[in-house]
Amino acid sequence: MNQNFLKTIEKNLPISAAKSGEDLDIASLSAGIKKLLVKKSAVIIAHYYTDPSIQQLAEETGGFIGDSLEMARFGAENPAQTLIVAGVRFMGETAKILSPEKTVLMPDLKAECSLDLGCEPGEFKKFIAANPGRVVVVYANTSAEVKAMADWVVTSSIAVDLIKHLTEQGKKIIWAPDRYLGDYITRQSGGDVMIWDACCIVHSEFVAAKISEQKKRHPKAQLLVHPESKADVIALADFVGSTSQLLKAAQQSSAKEFIVATESGIFYKMQQACPDKKFIAAATEPYGGKVDCEASCPWMKMNNLENLLAALKTGQNEIKLADEVIKKALIPLTRMLEFRKKN
Ligand code: 13P
Ligand code: SF4
Repeated sequence: MNQNFLKTIEKNLPISAAKSGEDLDIASLSAGIKKLLVKKSAVIIAHYYTDPSIQQLAEETGGFIGDSLEMARFGAENPAQTLIVAGVRFMGETAKILSPEKTVLMPDLKAECSLDLGCEPGEFKKFIAANPGRVVVVYANTSAEVKAMADWVVTSSIAVDLIKHLTEQGKKIIWAPDRYLGDYITRQSGGDVMIWDACCIVHSEFVAAKISEQKKRHPKAQLLVHPESKADVIALADFVGSTSQLLKAAQQSSAKEFIVATESGIFYKMQQACPDKKFIAAATEPYGGKVDCEASCPWMKMNNLENLLAALKTGQNEIKLADEVIKKALIPLTRMLEFRKKN
């Protein structure tokens, strides 16, 4: 257990969860948001892990719900001048880097990610300097400053493909910040990968021993696992992939029951896409024995209709980045999007 990382996370956890959809007057908030989206030619880009009320609104208004790679692509390609990114801050920053001329707003700028928090730019710079001659690949779940130091950015949906590609070219790699995803891509690629030590506090809560028991109780269920999970959980999986890939796997599989080891927000879309199938949350235990997310990302849940409306109304919570950082971070992000097109 990385005690410094655990301390950083405890210090940065939101004090209380945002109001869930049930506590809010969804109809009137949604109506207000719809009017302002038109008036400001804005579009909502939401991650699967946000509250269903936000996902639903994104769908109804011509916005988008997706995984982190698809969100980045949609933001860059959509003509709307204002992007409301409902997710965590690195997603808003990615949208800004790819479309610096657009206004990028977020419902709450304090929506962090444990991976981003666990990879402080100054420390990462030292890590790169201490391991020269390696290609620097960072996960999208990092700050713009960290991306600006990288040769490549990747998301979970293309991490394995890219590391295999670089390994075939004989490259040695630095990978940051998710150690479990780093271990997974190393196993999959056989590459020489130097791994930073942080993790997703939500996905690392899944527990192999408890999930094995669930599998016994549901022998026909398939196990879907996000690769930010620990190796022993991944080892039990019938399918491993990014959030979108897990959703697609559930749709394409002939199985009727699934145990799902990823953030609980995905259940909204899974159930909508597969109304006749049953989805069971994979078992968890608190991260480090202390931080208990129960498969719900505390930062994703900071997004709600109230603060989304406020951001649209006032223009508050705009993502601002230094031009120099945008210029540098755009290079590895563009490489990522080009790599995706070709592979
Ligand atoms: P996806 O790339 O599957 O969206 O995962 C990113 C993530 O960590 C969201 O929490
Ligand atoms: Fe970060 Fe994990 Fe939350 Fe995703 S689920 S935003 S990786 S803390």
